[in-house]
Amino acid sequence: MLRTRPVGKYNLQVCTNVSCLLRGADDIFEHCKTKLGIGNKESTPDGLFHLEEVECIGACSWAPALMMNYEFHENLTPAKIDELIDGLKKKEEQ
Ligand code: FES
Repeated sequence: MLRTRPVGKYNLQVCTNVSCLLRGADDIFEHCKTKLGIGNKESTPDGLFHLEEVECIGACSWAPALMMNYEFHENLTPAKIDELIDGLKKKEEQ
């Protein structure tokens, strides 16, 4: 949990623990990596997004889930990831 480098403004923490894993978390994490063009524990060059794979975030009943800056996003699908990331990009452009 100690950071030695700055992270992106929006920190996407994708749970890949057992409940989420059984409901497709690996695909969700891969989709995030492809969509953002970064890997685990990396930030986008514009400093907007940081991505990391994490252990259980306590949202198992709504798996697969991620936490972004302490905000939960649940029952994730690739379409929901696109909506989240694209929405944040649009928000930043305004
Ligand atoms: S296993 Fe993902 S929130 Fe618990």
